[in-house]
Amino acid sequence: MDNSIDQIYQKALQELKAATDRQAVEDIRVRYLGRKGAVTRFLRNISDLPADQRPVAGKQANQCKKLLEKACKEAAENLETVEEPAVAGIDVSLPGRPAPSGSLHPITQINQRICDIFTQMGFDIAEGPEVELDYYNFEALNFPKDHPARDMQDTFFVSDDIVLRTHTSPLQIRTMEKQQPPVRIIMPGKVYRCDSDLTHTPMFHQVEGLLVDENVSFGDLKGTLTAFVHQMFDEQTSLRFRPGFFPFTEPSAEVDILCVMCRGKGCRVCSQTGWLEILGSGMVHPALYENVGYDADRYTGFAFGMGVDRIAMLKFGIDDIRKFFENDIRFLSQF
Ligand code: PHE
Repeated sequence: MDNSIDQIYQKALQELKAATDRQAVEDIRVRYLGRKGAVTRFLRNISDLPADQRPVAGKQANQCKKLLEKACKEAAENLETVEEPAVAGIDVSLPGRPAPSGSLHPITQINQRICDIFTQMGFDIAEGPEVELDYYNFEALNFPKDHPARDMQDTFFVSDDIVLRTHTSPLQIRTMEKQQPPVRIIMPGKVYRCDSDLTHTPMFHQVEGLLVDENVSFGDLKGTLTAFVHQMFDEQTSLRFRPGFFPFTEPSAEVDILCVMCRGKGCRVCSQTGWLEILGSGMVHPALYENVGYDADRYTGFAFGMGVDRIAMLKFGIDDIRKFFENDIRFLSQF
């Protein structure tokens, strides 16, 4: 008899230990302590025992009943405290969810870097329209109608005298029309040419620079661009000025840097030449001063224009310019 109430009690405790929620605890309580429960039945049957065994058995059974009631109550309370936050949808012990953050587009990063370098040298920043008059894109920049130099750029025409600007140089004219020297300004923006392959997209980015004042020389142009290249790449990056032609500068020079991939040995990126062209530049052609009403005898100046996408490709080691514009987040999130 003693054994039997003890066995019931032990079994109930084991079951309570295994219970994982409050409903399971309640089921156990009913099964042992309910009206038809095992403990209740045991108590009821005590009267059938021989009279001398009844007091001990009754005492033990009542004790088991009390202990079991207490165990059920505690088990339910414990489960309640663990369960409650989960019910509310919050488990304060879990690590926080990372909030994904965006990043600046690699072109934007390089654009900002270029602008930072020049603003530190005292240049202001200006912008202008992407849909541009033929006059600003060509005519005022000393490209006469039917001049073969217009073929250098595959123009998107909007109408006979309106184009998508093929370069940021029209901003040279727009700036000089608005302000008198000294002018020290850079002009970032999108430009458009009908061209598409590994290194060309129909839309790309340029930063134009213009400095006009008294006594500005080609030496100032070289010094400014050398300082820029050393800050943009590194102090060791050599550069060379190669004679070039633009209708709006005279003399003109194209600027190459020593190939950042092979350091001049010759590789696929620099077409085995060891050099990479990054910008066009020159002394502002006097014809432009006439077009904007500057005194061409008093002022001289230099201008330059660089391809932002090209510089971004070199800085980040990217071989296909089109990747910049596919908006593939797996690509963009690496910068
Ligand atoms: N606009 C020229 C181009 O797009 C670059 C340039 C700018 C050259 C200013 C000289 C001076 O190729």
